[in-house]
Parts: sequence; C-alpha cells; structure tokens
Amino acid sequence: MSKTSLKSQPVSGKTAAETVEQRVDDLLKKMTLGEKVGQMTLFTAMWAETGPTIDRNFLQYVREGRCGSIFNAYTAAYTRSLQKVAVEETRLGIPLLFGFDVIHGHRTIFPIPLAEACSWDLALIEKAARIAATEASAEGIHWTFAPMVDVARDPRWGRVAEGAGEDVWLGCRVAEARVRGFQGDDLAAEDTVLACAKHFAAYGGAEAGRDYNIVDVSERTLAEVYLPPFKACVDAGVRTFMPAFNEIAGVPCTASRALLTETLRQKWGFTGVVVTDYTAINELVPHGVAADLAQAGELSVQAGVDMDMQGGVYFNHLEAQVESGKVTKAAIDDAVRRILRVKFELGLFDDPYRYCSEKREKRQVMSLEHLRAARIMAEKSLVLLKNENKTLPFSRTLRSLALIGPLAEADAELLGNWFGAGDGKQAVSVAEALRLKFGDSLRVIAAKGCEIYGGDTSQFEAAVAAASEADAVLLVLGESGSMSGEAACRVDIDLPGLQNQLAETVARAANGKPVAAVLINGRPLAINRLNEAVPAILEAWFPGTMGGSAVVGTIFGDANPSGKLVMTFPRSTGQIPIYYAAKNTGRPISPDKYTSKYLDCPNTPLFPFGHGLSYTTFNYGPVQLSAASMPMRGEIKASVKLTNTGTRPGEEVVQLYLRDLVACVTRPVKELKGFKKVYLEPGDSANIEFKITSADLEFPGHDLAPIVEPGEFEVMIGGSSAVCNGQRFTLLPDK
Ligand code: NOJ
Repeated sequence: MSKTSLKSQPVSGKTAAETVEQRVDDLLKKMTLGEKVGQMTLFTAMWAETGPTIDRNFLQYVREGRCGSIFNAYTAAYTRSLQKVAVEETRLGIPLLFGFDVIHGHRTIFPIPLAEACSWDLALIEKAARIAATEASAEGIHWTFAPMVDVARDPRWGRVAEGAGEDVWLGCRVAEARVRGFQGDDLAAEDTVLACAKHFAAYGGAEAGRDYNIVDVSERTLAEVYLPPFKACVDAGVRTFMPAFNEIAGVPCTASRALLTETLRQKWGFTGVVVTDYTAINELVPHGVAADLAQAGELSVQAGVDMDMQGGVYFNHLEAQVESGKVTKAAIDDAVRRILRVKFELGLFDDPYRYCSEKREKRQVMSLEHLRAARIMAEKSLVLLKNENKTLPFSRTLRSLALIGPLAEADAELLGNWFGAGDGKQAVSVAEALRLKFGDSLRVIAAKGCEIYGGDTSQFEAAVAAASEADAVLLVLGESGSMSGEAACRVDIDLPGLQNQLAETVARAANGKPVAAVLINGRPLAINRLNEAVPAILEAWFPGTMGGSAVVGTIFGDANPSGKLVMTFPRSTGQIPIYYAAKNTGRPISPDKYTSKYLDCPNTPLFPFGHGLSYTTFNYGPVQLSAASMPMRGEIKASVKLTNTGTRPGEEVVQLYLRDLVACVTRPVKELKGFKKVYLEPGDSANIEFKITSADLEFPGHDLAPIVEPGEFEVMIGGSSAVCNGQRFTLLPDK
C-alpha cells in the first residue's frame, strides 16, 4: 500500500463507521508483527516529566516504525516535526497519536478538577474541558489523559485534587460533562481530543491514603461507589481508558481481565483503546504477579491492555511472546485495530498535521475569551466555608489592608500540582490582583509571616505590625502545589508549618478588625485551629491562571460565592475516611456508651459535603411531595420553596438526597440524586421541583444486579448534606 492510499476514500453505500472498519482492516493486512507492536507502544518525549523513566531514543523508535504514539510533546511546530518522521520516514506512514495530561486547562489553566466540581455547574465544567481541548489540539495534541473519575474519600491521598470528590452520582455527572467537553460531538473536528477515563478502578481507595497502595474493597463497594463514574464515561462515548496502578483484592488492574475485558468491553460495550498508566506493565513484577517483564506483557495483553505507556514491555517482549505462542496473533490484531480505529476517527489518516496549526495556536491559546472563562470558573469554584458577623465581603472603601501569609504573593502555586503547559509566571497572584483592582487607592501592607512549611517565626513580628496598622486583614494560607497530586500524600492534613500559629497571632493583633483567610490547597484540610482563630474562611483551592483576580473580586463583593464542597472537611485526620453517604450501623451514635463514636471527637465533620455559604441567605420551605406513594414505574415530584432572604442576589445549589429506609442490604443514610443551581434576587422565591423515578431508587441487590425494592423512602432537600427536613413516600410493588 502506498502512503497516499491511506487517505480517506469514500466507499459507496457504506456508513462512516463501516468505512473506518474497512480501512482499518486493509491497513492491518499490510502490517508486519513488528509494526503492529509499534502501534501498541507509547513513549514519552521530554517536554514534561510525568513518571520515573525516560527513554531518550523515542524518535529513533518512531523512525523504525516501532513506536506509534508519543506523549509529553506539544506545540504545533514540535508535534509537526515528530509527525513528519512517522509519516514520511516509515514504511507505512501511519501517523502518530500525541497524548498529554491536559487535566485542568492546557495553557490557560482552570481551577483544579476538585475545585471545578465545587461549582456544581456542569455547563461551565464542560466548557472548561472544551477550552482545554481547543488549546491542546491547536498545539498538536490529540489525546488527553483525563478525566480522572476516581471517587475519593480519603483526603490524605494527593490525587483527590484531580477528581470530582466523594460522591458517586455527582461524580458521574461531572465525568460525563468532562468527556463531552474534551471530545465534543465530532472527534474529527480540529478542536476536539480523545478523552481517557482513568484510573480504572478504585485508585481512590488506596489503603491509608497512600498513593499506589493496595485497594481491598468489597465487590459491592466496587460496583456501587467506584465503577459508576467509569460506566458514565462509556455511556458518554469516551474513547480511551487507563487502568489504575493499584491492585484490587490481589489483582493489579493492569492485569485484570475481569475489569478490562469482562466488565469494560463485554458488559459495558466499550470499543475504544485501553492504555496503561506509566510503566504499569513493568510494575506487575514488583506487584508479584509476573516473574519477569515478558510474563508481565503477556498478562496485560490477555487482560485487554492495548497500549503500553513508557514501559517498553510490549516493545521489547511482545514479538517473542507471539512467536512462542504465548500471546495470540488475534489478540494483537484486536488491540491494533482499536488503536488504528481512533487514529482514523481523529482524521489523522486524512491529514496527519491537522492538529498542528501555528495559526490556530496563536489565535486561540490563552485568548482573552479563555482567560475570562477561567476567571468565571475560578469564581464559581470558591467555597465560602465560614462568614461570622458578615465579615466578608470587605468594604471596597477600605483604605488599608494587611496582606499576610505565605501564599499572598504566589503565582505558580495557584496552578496546583499538575498544570499541563501552563506557565506559573502568567498566573495572577492575590497581591497582583489587589494592585490591578485598586491601584493606589488601597494601601496594601504585605507581610509573609511565615513560609508554607518550616518553623521559622522571624517574620511574625512584621505580620503583627501589619495587622495592627491596617483596616482589615487578609490571610492567604494553604499548601504548596507540590503537596497535591501524584505521589503527594500527607498523614496530617492540617495547614502545614506555622500557618495556624500565624493566623492566631495575626487575628489577636487585628483586635476586632475584620480578618478573613483564603485557603489555597488541593484537598480538604482539617482546619479546626484556623476555624477557631478567624471569623471568615474562603476556600479557593488551586484556582488557576486567573485565581488571584477571582479571589480578590469575591473578597470585595464583585462576585458572590456559590460553590459547595464536593468532599467532606473532617475535624481531625483520625476521622478519615469520612463521607456523607455513610451507613447507619447497628448502633448509630447516641449519648449511650456502646454506640458508634469516638471518645475524643464528634462524628460530624467540620464542614459537610454540599456545604458552602453565600453573601446572601436562603430559606428552604418544607419538602412537598406530589403524592404519598409512587407506582413502581411511575414518578413522584418533590419540591421546596426557596427564598433569598438576604440583601444580595445570589446562587444556591439546591440538593436532593434520598434514603431507602429498609432494603435487603444496608443503604447509606442519604444519597445525592439531583441538584439545581438557582439564581435569586433578594426577596425573590422560586419553587424548586425534582422528579423522582424508580431509576433513582435502584441499588445493587444481593447478587449485585441492580434492583428496586418497594417500601419507604425519605426525601430530603436542602443546601448541604447536613439537611434532614425529610418527607416520606412509599414505593408500591409492581401489580
Ligand atoms: C501517571 C499518572 O498516574 C497518570 O494519571 C498520567 O496520565 C500518566 N502518569 C501520564 O503522565
């Protein structure tokens, strides 16, 4: 086959999918075993370091037709130069696929995924992913290793920053939005990229919150908690999947046929590509399920892994394994077919350079429109945790402000742990945003006070002086970007270093003047001490390129916070794992001695899932149900009257929780099943209605097959998971 004959030829009377299949088959017939294994091989270029090994010869491998995909390379010019080697210097000219971790923006960096989820604004979340895809694809990228859809209930685990938090239902909705945003409606469009649902599965369940650690969850928890967001991605059309590093109950996910073939392909009907995580095939040896790399490769192919990321195991061993009969040719063909299929779907065979457009790169990357969207997303991600005595917003007529804390001047740290091709120097710090907003009209008395970590108190004095002198105090505290993300777990999730002591000292020095703390961090923190010390706390997470502007605008009331937590904030690290959708137990907490509780800490969190205040206040009327009972195939409507009882316009996330009171297996005390984000002017009311059908009442039965059981259900509607103003209805049996 000549290289040009790989180009698109409409085949009369065939659908687009059939044409792709035929073109894949035609190409497959021309390929040698070595070329096939090459398509199953992914190597990193060196523009980003995202794992422990690098092989500098990657370009030589491309030239030899032994490497079909590259990651960690970007810009139109660089990807074009690499693509040229594949297309012009290899026998078949099969284009390369370029992957990259475009996690929360490519160059315009949005808030970390955990923060974005706190917006509860699915349209905005989708838009953020759309913009990330637009910028990445303009720089030659075809494929993002995102979204991470791991449900995470242990904030010690650094990667909670990359997901959508602790809830299954919300996790599914956010996962779908992100897949839609990255992939758009048409993969062949020049501004869409392949998404990758990762890390399949239960990576968030790492024992002791330590990254890469074993996971040992019940089949029920797997089915009910960890798998649904992955299924949601398949249903939303995600084209690639990444198995998790961890084992589940003794089987490393990379070698799990049950997960990758039986569940993912056979049960869920996924037809796309499975790519490993970084050197995950090699890690089957230290996991102890393969004696050597050759066996590790064999196990992975048999499990259903199509592409080896960076490990070089397929590259070095797969041909021999096929020749010795340990791996079948059919298994190789299946994998290669899936890989070629996505390359065709992206349109790479029609124009391998279509995603390397310098013109588009110049026009779209960090455009004003994208920066504006990043600012809005950052504003919507902010969660006002506490606001005693209406400390916030600060008055715009303040004459002086003490700006204190190790993150007040930070720019790069605002991007968080993993920020693609983002540039920290372009991020707007809180200090810079104050200068931009007020110029000389506000005297900012800056004093760092202390570093993020460490025990040096020498800068306290200047911070105390600033707090005594200024009209108000803004503390900017938190974690460094590198304290979150991969391989960044913590045993104690309080503020690091001397930051609590700094807050206490400064608050005392402020002597009744307004004091507010802004938190910059990537996980829920156990901030009891800070909570005691200051009257107002605004959780800003790692808010991205426009983070400082979003924070300052909100602190001074240009924007009204509307974010709600998607992960519980514990009082103490010792409460972990703590999440709202817990089980009641046989001895629920009561003052009696022999009940489920601690001696030294309440069971309740410091801030529950769903919590977040506004500068206005909202009142919820009683829950109304459209009927006292619901037929099995019918529906029931639940509603509340929501009133803005404050003095500012604001948005409220109205949350619907359900409880199945008696079932054949124990059920959580409440489960989120819907929400509406509602905007109300002061004094206005709205009737907020939810439709409940039996699909909302489904759960895995004894055999883990989904069932719906007749009986009593409780409906709760409110502004956080702490809501308990329920109404009951009966689900009637099928006649
Ligand atoms: C390791 C991470 O676990 C994964 O999420 C990421 O996509 C790869 N490295 C590639 O950078």
